[in-house]
Amino acid sequence: ETRSDGPNCPGSLIVVSNRQPYRHEYERDGDGGDDGDDESDRSVTVDEPAGGLTAGLDPVVREVDGTWIAWGDGDADFDVADEDHCVEVPPGEEAYTLRRIDLSEEAVESYYYGFSNRVLWPLCHGFGDLVEHRSNDFDWYRTVNERFADAVVEHAAEDSVVWLQDYHFALAPRLIREGVPASTTVAQFWHIPWPAPETFQQCPAAGHVLEGLLGNDLLGFHVDWYANTFLDCVEQYFPSATVDRRERTVRYDGHTTRVVATPMGVDADRYDRDARSVGRAQLAEIREAFGIPDDTVLGLGVDRLDYAKGIPERFAALERFFERNPDWRGEFTFVQKSTPSRTDIPTYQQYGDHVRSEAERINRRFGTDDWQPIVYTEDYVEHEALCALYRYADVMVVSSLADGMNLVAQEYVAANVDGDGTLLLSDRAGAHERLGTHALTIDPTDADGTAAQLERALSMPTHERRQRMQTLRTRVFDHDLEGWMDAQFDWIRRVHGEKSTATDS
Ligand code: G6P
Repeated sequence: ETRSDGPNCPGSLIVVSNRQPYRHEYERDGDGGDDGDDESDRSVTVDEPAGGLTAGLDPVVREVDGTWIAWGDGDADFDVADEDHCVEVPPGEEAYTLRRIDLSEEAVESYYYGFSNRVLWPLCHGFGDLVEHRSNDFDWYRTVNERFADAVVEHAAEDSVVWLQDYHFALAPRLIREGVPASTTVAQFWHIPWPAPETFQQCPAAGHVLEGLLGNDLLGFHVDWYANTFLDCVEQYFPSATVDRRERTVRYDGHTTRVVATPMGVDADRYDRDARSVGRAQLAEIREAFGIPDDTVLGLGVDRLDYAKGIPERFAALERFFERNPDWRGEFTFVQKSTPSRTDIPTYQQYGDHVRSEAERINRRFGTDDWQPIVYTEDYVEHEALCALYRYADVMVVSSLADGMNLVAQEYVAANVDGDGTLLLSDRAGAHERLGTHALTIDPTDADGTAAQLERALSMPTHERRQRMQTLRTRVFDHDLEGWMDAQFDWIRRVHGEKSTATDS
């Protein structure tokens, strides 16, 4: 479903993200005629946007006939793709241009697995001790940012709005600004936290990162806290910059950047609708498939397998809970669905091993022949099955140690259509600002406290549980993905308007 009124983008839109909205896989039909150029001897499979941001932005870019620039990752076979790696998407509709940047293995290793995910990711999430300093990573990060910036400059026109996504592109805004007309608006949304100056100063090339970001006209974060710590860092690194705390603007090197906090939401209607279309039969299938006894109360965790998500901490709390509440053994099952991520990085491999071995250890400790306390899976779970889990899970636990926003917490609430689930939510997730008053707050590092909140959730009177979930649902529906998108474009229009006034005079 596309929206009817549209986001009202003031100029032609160019979106830049690391992940692409569509992935094409080219397969040759049969063995013969392998000349590569003949359309008829290959078939194309296209993966649709999986969810979250790409799915939310896709209708926007479609409507404005924009351009989307992304890394052409995965199995796309460039030998048979268009020469300049541009394709019209979605298939059959050809609503906008997807331009793919083809990166060499070495570039990916240093830009993506290096500076993005061995430096910026751990740093912004407050894991300074996990930051790895490898000699070529920053240079490649800069080279890749230059390549994306060049591509943007090629597509940009006088009235263009460039909208960059996330921490993979900290240097690009300034590079873009140098190459586009003064009236082009450059905006970025930083989807992860921004750390305090004490942490940020461990960043190699910290000054370059900040300078790059100050090439934006508009820079968005999820919550006030990240916007403020960003301004703290700017003040520390660039004493010559003029920082207006009330307006949240930075004047640096002759250019003004407006910093805003606009918390992201989820496509709540979609989760609501899809959850309503699943029934207890689907849940029974899931229980059967995972060997979960029919009558046990269900807990749920859904995360990328990332050290920021606090999965072992969650397991430690479950262990405490079963120690303290022997009556719940055999009566409560916790389903943990983890999605392996960035597995080329040893830290992620070790984390995965640790998470799996903790689940096994706790299962050995409390499990019986017909019941396991933790049902752990890394298998792909279909959207429908996920909606069934969200709908019927009695308790959802989000125990992030740091988390830009956390969309899973909001998906759970949107899909909890019967209104009787309980959310345990870390006070370190951005989502806590929106949901903290009616979720049960946890400090993820406090196993006893988290176990106590789990006890509370499981013994909460029905009316209180329903009332809390009702309020959470109102918040999630009132601040959904479309609302977030509208807020972005309201700001973009404002900044774009201010710029054209400034350019005219
Ligand atoms: C986080 C980041 C996104 C990223 C996603 C998945 O949500 O903010 O930019 O796309 O994780 O990680 P991956 O490295 O697989 O793209």
